[in-house]
Amino acid sequence: MNTVEENRKMLADAIAVIKDHVALEPRIGIILGTGLGSLVDGIEMAGVVDYDSIPHFPVSTVESHAGRLLFGKLRGKPVVCMQGRFHYYEGYSFQQIGFPIRVLKALGVQTLIVSNAAGGLNPNFAPGDIMVIKDHINFFPGNPLIGRNDDSLGDRFPDMYEVYNRKYVQLAKDVALQQDLRLQEGVYVGLTGPCLETAAEYRMLRTFGADAVGMSTVPEVITAHHQHSKILGFSIITDMGLPDNMHPCSLEDVIGTASAAEPKLRDLIAGCVERM
Ligand code: HPA
Repeated sequence: MNTVEENRKMLADAIAVIKDHVALEPRIGIILGTGLGSLVDGIEMAGVVDYDSIPHFPVSTVESHAGRLLFGKLRGKPVVCMQGRFHYYEGYSFQQIGFPIRVLKALGVQTLIVSNAAGGLNPNFAPGDIMVIKDHINFFPGNPLIGRNDDSLGDRFPDMYEVYNRKYVQLAKDVALQQDLRLQEGVYVGLTGPCLETAAEYRMLRTFGADAVGMSTVPEVITAHHQHSKILGFSIITDMGLPDNMHPCSLEDVIGTASAAEPKLRDLIAGCVERM
């Protein structure tokens, strides 16, 4: 287990290299999930840093993820995008998954926008829908905050009050209305994957109060909340996990649906960023 000093040194190493490459100080961080990489189209680019050039940064192993930090302005606001993220099922520890979130904060990020592809559990949802995340359930077998706590970053026992900023949830609804977009709202449950769920598991997760299920987001959000970042999260519903109406689901289906819905999410995120 790392000491607080070791963690600080790792962060300082990463920041030094990034600041060497880019002058822009981002205020908003955006994590692009599966199939959402081209959300960056609307960004006026100021710099790119590949993950593999950043000390201690994990390197993405999933082909649908590019693996770089993109800096620039989105609707006039300085942002950094993580194009490619890290999943527990790839073999990373929760601390490794959280490291980039620490890096974003150290670069100046105050607001984190997360996106993911998720299976729909709420029968009122349909594939292609976008859901603003109002809360989550951590079904991962662990927590990124396990280990020594750096009190300069956040509390040892963070409370989980309003993890997903309520004003931002309302902002997303307002922007969606303006854009004539049907926006769902719900609870995201995160678990390890890489299997999708059995019918019995979908039923259980729905009974537990979840509206969508996926394999990411929760570790990053816990890390971001610990360090007092404001959080706005979106899921693209790529497939439905309805226990009494199961269909085969392939990665191609998931990525295809995510890509088709991407322009909607891109405009929604840009609209939110503009008004943040
Ligand atoms: N389950 C878990 N993760 C997912 C799913 C799902 O049905 N769809 C997209 N990511």
